[in-house]
Amino acid sequence: MKTLSHSLALVAALLGSTKAGLRFPCSTLTTQRLDPAAQPGSLPSAHLHMIVGGNSFNATMEGDVGARATCTTCQMAEDFSNYWVAHMYFRDPKNGSYTRVMPSPVQPLLGGSNGAKGGLTVYYTQFDLNKDNLKQQPIKAFPPGFRMTVGAPTVTDKPHAGLSYQCMTGGNRGALVSDFPKTKCTGGIFTTHHFPPCWDGKNLDSPNHQTHMYNTVNSEYFNNAPACPSTHPVRVPQVTFEITWDTQKFASLWDSAKDGNPFVWSFGGSNGAGTHADYMFGWKGDSLQKAMDKSECFYDGCGSIKKQAMSEANKCTVKDFVKEDIDGWQKFMPGMGPSSMKAKKPFTA
Ligand SMILES: *[C@@H]1O[C@H](CO)[C@@H](O)[C@H](O)[C@H]1NC(C)=O
Ligand SMILES: *[C@@H]1O[C@H](CO)[C@@H](O)[C@H](O)[C@H]1NC(C)=O
Repeated sequence: MKTLSHSLALVAALLGSTKAGLRFPCSTLTTQRLDPAAQPGSLPSAHLHMIVGGNSFNATMEGDVGARATCTTCQMAEDFSNYWVAHMYFRDPKNGSYTRVMPSPVQPLLGGSNGAKGGLTVYYTQFDLNKDNLKQQPIKAFPPGFRMTVGAPTVTDKPHAGLSYQCMTGGNRGALVSDFPKTKCTGGIFTTHHFPPCWDGKNLDSPNHQTHMYNTVNSEYFNNAPACPSTHPVRVPQVTFEITWDTQKFASLWDSAKDGNPFVWSFGGSNGAGTHADYMFGWKGDSLQKAMDKSECFYDGCGSIKKQAMSEANKCTVKDFVKEDIDGWQKFMPGMGPSSMKAKKPFTA
């Protein structure tokens, strides 16, 4: 089976001739119960998120995010978008207490990302991992105010193609699977979220934050997806997040032979199918469109696109809006205690 690490090795070997889009690290901006896409205005939102990107992040986000923000935790200095995911937790099988599993510092792959703190890797691919194919398939950048989600915490059978887990052995990512790995992963658990690449061309959002998009992603890899349908004819960049969760820290606290999977998402339940991610577009002006029009983008290099050192990116912060204790061992994950369960509003992502 072809693994992503093999694909990346291939890409690295092709470096120089490869033109494929952007790939860059973003440090953690904040970790709070906020969800301006699925639960705008909710302070707090239902469950805890790990959030990266620009400092205009707050409970409600309308209009031109990129025009409001003044800093970003991403390496691309004009990207004030926000990207977020549910937080991973470890539930101790002996006493049932929960503590957060931290995202490992985003790994520098081809240089330039040294010093990231936690966070995630973002991709904006134009076609696939090796080529942009712009003549056949031009890419339209998202408009200000655009947002979308992929996956949903309510899914319990199997996540759709493009949402996956990998059990890492050291730096080797291993096979792609659709649930939490059943064994201890010495290199951590690697999660991938591919967003849909087809937009209806009109709506910045939709009631479930997904129907304005059409998902043609049909594999776990960075393959080009089939053509966009007439209902969603506009090809946008294929946005992807990758995160390595530092699960190995908990290796001595569970027994894979008798305990079952001890890892759980912040929305409750240890079924991996509910994995999901949220995107709020916020590139400044036409900076993303310019990058997507270029046939020379490769990972962190793309024409005159502005970059910053991760030491600079790490200085970007937002205030603690929710003010709740999320550190140490806790009886319940934030928002998941018996009293908050009753008050919980319905949500889709
Ligand atoms: C979020 O930011 C916008 C723009 O700065 C502001 O108008 C709004 O009141 C903020 N919302 C919350 C809930 O803080
Ligand atoms: C549960 O177990 C963890 C890991 O051994 C420990 O650190 C924590 O204090 C325990 N919590 C309680 C409530 O005993």
